[in-house]
Amino acid sequence: MTATAEAPAPSMFERIGGTEGVRAVVDRFYDLMEHDSRYAALRAMHVEDLFPVRVSLTQFLSAWLGGPRDWFEARPGTCIMSMHRAMGITPDTAAQWVEAMSRAMANCRVEKALGSQMQQAFLRMAGAMMRA
Ligand code: HEM
Repeated sequence: MTATAEAPAPSMFERIGGTEGVRAVVDRFYDLMEHDSRYAALRAMHVEDLFPVRVSLTQFLSAWLGGPRDWFEARPGTCIMSMHRAMGITPDTAAQWVEAMSRAMANCRVEKALGSQMQQAFLRMAGAMMRA
């Protein structure tokens, strides 16, 4: 009798399409932020050149989803939550972030179950980022 080894379930990073999949979502997210006036308050919190944050969020989300950990390795001891608590995030700007990200995931055809899992996590993080 031969044992059939079951393939391990794909990680969230694999399900989103690896670094390219994450980059597509992040680029769409910042494109929406730049061009849709309903995210004007969120856009105004950011510096003019969004390129560095596009790179950084792509790396952060890749690590967060189980992929390469470059973001954490380049910033030992950095806490994303503490960093954001200093930004004066309001319920409005938090809602804009979560909505733009949710649209970006849908536009990039992120698998529905994965998208809603990520959305729940972003909602919790955004809520905690507002608390000093
Ligand atoms: C709750 C609403 C949020 C607001 C209003 C917000 C706003 C910002 C702002 C203003 C920056 C600085 C960009 C710049 O320097 O111009 C930033 C950076 C960043 N944010 Fe957020 N953010 C939010 C939620 C999140 C969440 C949920 C995550 C992760 C899942 C995240 C990940 C990042 C990362 C990785 C950076 C770049 C950090 C760096 O390289 O220094 N943000 N965010």
